[in-house]
Order: sequence, then C-alpha cells, then structure tokens
Amino acid sequence: MSKIWVKKPLSAYEADMKKSELKKVLGKWSLTAIGVGAIIGGGIFVLTGTGAYYHAGPALAISFIIAGIACVFAALCYAEFASIIPVEGSAYAYAYGTVGEIFAWAMGWCLILEYAMASMAVSVSWSGYFNKFLKIFNIHLPAYLTSDPASYTGDGFSMNLPAFILVLLITALLVKGTKEAAGANNLIVLMKTSAVIFVIIAGVYIIFSNTDLYNAVDGVKNWKPFIPDQVQIKNSEGDLVSAYGIKGIISGAAAIFFAYIGFDAVSTQAGEAINPKKDVPFAIIASLLVCTALYICVSLVLTGMMHYTDFNPEGKYPDAIKAPVAYAFEIAGKHWASNIVTIAATVGLISVVMVMMMGQSRIFIGMAKDGLIPKFFGDLHPKTKTPYKGIILLGIVVALIAAFTPISTLADMTSFGTLFAFTLVCIAVWVMRKKEPNLIRPFKVPAYKIVVALGVFINIYLIFNLSAHALELSAVWLFLGGLVYFLYGKSNSKLNNPEKYQNQD
Ligand code: ALA
Repeated sequence: MSKIWVKKPLSAYEADMKKSELKKVLGKWSLTAIGVGAIIGGGIFVLTGTGAYYHAGPALAISFIIAGIACVFAALCYAEFASIIPVEGSAYAYAYGTVGEIFAWAMGWCLILEYAMASMAVSVSWSGYFNKFLKIFNIHLPAYLTSDPASYTGDGFSMNLPAFILVLLITALLVKGTKEAAGANNLIVLMKTSAVIFVIIAGVYIIFSNTDLYNAVDGVKNWKPFIPDQVQIKNSEGDLVSAYGIKGIISGAAAIFFAYIGFDAVSTQAGEAINPKKDVPFAIIASLLVCTALYICVSLVLTGMMHYTDFNPEGKYPDAIKAPVAYAFEIAGKHWASNIVTIAATVGLISVVMVMMMGQSRIFIGMAKDGLIPKFFGDLHPKTKTPYKGIILLGIVVALIAAFTPISTLADMTSFGTLFAFTLVCIAVWVMRKKEPNLIRPFKVPAYKIVVALGVFINIYLIFNLSAHALELSAVWLFLGGLVYFLYGKSNSKLNNPEKYQNQD
C-alpha cells in the first residue's frame, strides 16, 4: 500500500527535461498571451449576466475581486512550483514530486475535468456566439445543426455542428505545431483584449453621456444600491434561492469563477518555454493580473449600462442573460458596438478551446512519461514534435461530446476540477517548503504560510458553493479515477515497476 505514496525525485524531472524533444519556442510574452488566451472567454462574455441577476447585482465587481484573490493565491503557488519543476505536466508533476503518486494521479484526473471539460463547454458557448455572428450577415443555420439532442425541441436527428467542426479544426492546428498554434493565439489574444478594452471605453462613454444613466448628483444610477438587500428569487430551475447581499456576492464569486480558469495553462507549456524558470512564473501572474483588472472594469461598466434586474430571463429582455455584454450595447441603441462584441467573442473563444486542448495534451505527456497512462499519449510526431496521437484522440472525444451533450452542469464540473487542483497545489507548496527547505527556488511565494492557508480555505469554500449536481458528478469522476489507477496506473507506473522499464530508458 505504501507504494501508492511513492514520490518522483526532482533529479528525475531534470533528466526528463534534458531528454525532452519538445521545441523550446515560447518566450515571456507568448506565455503571457497563452494565459490571457485561456482566461478571457465564455466567462466574461456569458456569465456576467448570470452573476449580476442571480447573485450579486452591481456588486458583481466585488465577486470578481474575491474570485480573483482566490486565483492569486493559487497563482503564486503555481509560480513557485513552475520555477522549481518547469515541466509540461503542470500541477500533476508538482504533486508527484512532493506528496506522492496517488495524490498526483488524483490531480491529473481532476485536471482532465478542468482542461478537457472546459474545451467542451467553451466550444459549445462558441457555437452560440457563432450563430449570432452569422445572423449579422443574415445567415441562419437550422436548429437541428446547432443543438445537442437533449436541448433540441424538434423531431429527428440533431447535433451541434459548429462546435464539432471547430474542435476538429483546432485539433489539426495543434498537430501542425506549437509555434503555429501560439502564433494564431497571439493574434486572437490581441483582438479579444482590444475588444474587452473597447467594451470598457465605449461603456464608460455611454454611461457618462446619458443623463438617464448618470448625473452629477446621483452618480451612476444603476449602481444604486451597489449591494442590494438580500432577497429570494427564482433560479433557472424555478426554485427559490437567496440572491444579493453579502451571501450573493460570495455565491457570485463561485458562479463566475469559470471566467478565471486558464492562467494555470501557462504552466502546462513549461516544456516548450525558452527560459521556463523565470518566464513561466512571470506569465502566470501577469496574465492573471491583467485579466482581473479587465474583469472588474467590465463588470462595473455592464451593471452601469444595464440595471441588474434587466438580465431577468423572464423580464423585458429575455435573451440578455445569454449574451449580456453584446445585449447591453444593443439596448443602449449601439448595434454596431454589439456587433463588434459578437465578432470578438466568436473569434476570442477559439483561443480558449485551443489553449485548453493544448494544455490537456501536455498533461497527458507528463502522465504517459511516468507510465500512469498508455505511452501512446506521449508519442511525438517525428517532424512537428507535437504529441499528435494524444491530440487526435482528445480532439475526437471533445468534438463528439461537444456535439451531442448539453453542457451547463459540466461548466461547474470544470470549476470543481480547477478548484480541487488549486487546493492541492497550495498544499503541495507547504509540503515542499517543509521537506526541502534548501531547494533553490527562483520564485518564492511571499508569506507562504498565510498565502497557502488562505488559498486552501477560499478554494474549498468555493467548491462547496458549486451546484450539488456538479459535486455529485465530480465525486463519480473521482471514483472512476480511483478504479483506473488501481486497474492500470499502479501496475504500469515507472516508479512502482522499474523492472518493466529497465530496457527502455
Ligand atoms: N476562463 C475561460 C472562459 O471564461 C475558461 O471561457
């Protein structure tokens, strides 16, 4: 039994790094762009309406600050590890090097919830924006080609074809090469960051130039009161739940947490970074801070332009909650601005799917190298040096699930996987500080005891604020993970079965 706690020695990571054939092509800003590329996506473009109406009202900005703080604690811990163990397995590798194999397996298994599930959820949100985008040009796709069978109200066959095709195209790009994918990502990130800044500037202009929204005596009218009193409202399932007040701000933080997922994707690319020990910690923290600042501004502008109760799906603008940012401009009579947001969201979500799939395939490489999953996932293409077999298999599975499944609960499962991984990374920093106090750490978490304790507390607290259904499904996922580990991983792990691998290394 003690074998399941076996740890991978740090010297083994150094050896892996030396042997790695991944191309070192990513600099500091490309890595930061990868972080921003994964973070800004469906969360800010879609979940802000839900956060404002069902949870926090104008105080949504405070929910964003709280979720941002939870992420900063985790980001600092990620940064410390990335500076010590800059390999492609991310949190999975950190767990293997500190607490032990079974912990690392649980981590890897949760990261699949985060990365693979996020690519499915985001490709489905993308498909919604893509339809809105086509409508600008008067193109209307039939409902049976844009709905999964469970959401389709007509008879006969249906699938989410745009999501299916998007995932396959991204798969092809990822097989082609990391540099190509990173190049496409840089372009998209530039565009979507500009769009978010545009939303902020145009929104501020609309608010301050309209006397119905702002005057010198009252200030911004829709922000009054900024923290509405707690009341009971009907949620999307028709149950009465409490919203607003302090409680609403906290549940709002859990609801919009999804918007922050992605900064840790930077750590999955460490194997391809030119100077990983310095640049990966920088990029993790920089991408998170940039996005936190943008998110706080967007939520202030959004709730300033539109009264939070106007996001009520049973109210005067029933569709506003589905695309809140685009709608806020439409309602303000600025259709051109709404179109810009729709185009930016359509293009911007592509890079989230891309980075998430790229991250997942790199975590697979880490796990395959250690023998916990079949070697096949780590095989690199002889020319492009990308893990093409793993990417193709992942692409097919993600495309099929995205085409045929309704995703709402799965977005919460993505958050579960991420929060769980964050918690484990915070704990692992503490363990490593105690066990290896003299290790050279190019980046060190400041006041680590406080940061780790707060990080663990906030992340666990947010886990318990996720929907009960998502928690049940995540528990089933963890149970399945246990089965796979004891049926396959344990008996194939390199550390546990050195005799099996004697002649291969
Ligand atoms: N943070 C990413 C998004 O909001 C997952 O789409």
